[in-house]
Amino acid sequence: MTSSSTQAVPDTPQIPRHIAVIMDGNGRWATKRFLPRVAGHKKGVETVREMVRNCAELGVEYLTLFAFSSENWRRPKEEVSLLMRLFISVLENEVSRLNENGIRLRVVGDLSAFDPALQKAIATAEHKTAANTKLCLTIAANYGGRWDVLQAMRRLLVEQPGLTPEQVTEEAFVRYLCMADAPEPDLFIRTGGEKRISNFLLWQLAYTELYFTDTFWPDFDRNALHQAILSYQQRERRFGRTSAQVQAESAAVSAQAAC
Ligand code: IPE
Ligand code: IPE
Ligand code: MG
Repeated sequence: MTSSSTQAVPDTPQIPRHIAVIMDGNGRWATKRFLPRVAGHKKGVETVREMVRNCAELGVEYLTLFAFSSENWRRPKEEVSLLMRLFISVLENEVSRLNENGIRLRVVGDLSAFDPALQKAIATAEHKTAANTKLCLTIAANYGGRWDVLQAMRRLLVEQPGLTPEQVTEEAFVRYLCMADAPEPDLFIRTGGEKRISNFLLWQLAYTELYFTDTFWPDFDRNALHQAILSYQQRERRFGRTSAQVQAESAAVSAQAAC
């Protein structure tokens, strides 16, 4: 993580640098149309494609999408295996296009639970796009926020066994989290009407602006994204300070820029 919102007040860009999304509502989108749930997941892939394009155009630097949670294994076996197959086919079909558009792909989560063929497809896609800088697209798959914190703590203990409790600082710890290379999300979006975090980026969302919409993920178009960003732009990000302090600081920044 490049800077910590609890250690120092971060910049507050007009266009979020990092957007994190829980893409929810695929199943209900399909059911409403008397279609099988998988039709919603397939349509959801189209929305992902469009979302990536729109974010790249707007200058968003990091887009993190929750595709499969550590709790989603509880779903019926058929749905889980359909989702896995869809994931493989998306990786195979989309990576060249991502690469042509300068997009870097990363997949975070406990990948050891996936089929070896899927693990290989992920490694190949990450390798192929590693040098791209236009937008970093991270897919969270078999990801859980609690798992992330635990795996980070375990790696810290293994790699730095001599640390005293006082040496276990935020700085020492966060380098082991899955999203260590990205800034904390500025904007979190959850589609599909539920107002919960569902074990997504628990550590990283500490000061993220939260946006919930009833729109199902397959319907989340460019206009819906603009609405979310507009809502974000109307927030006052105080990070613990008072409103008067925030306003005084932004007046001082504007005055300095005018000199
Ligand atoms: C989100 O849509 C996609 C995944 C969790 C894989 P859902 O499948 O949860 O759709 P709903 O919530 O049942 O409508
Ligand atoms: C959260 O959606 C996970 C993903 C979008 C991948 P769910 O639909 O699984 O969340 P819950 O179970 O309703 O909280
Ligand atoms: Mg859901």
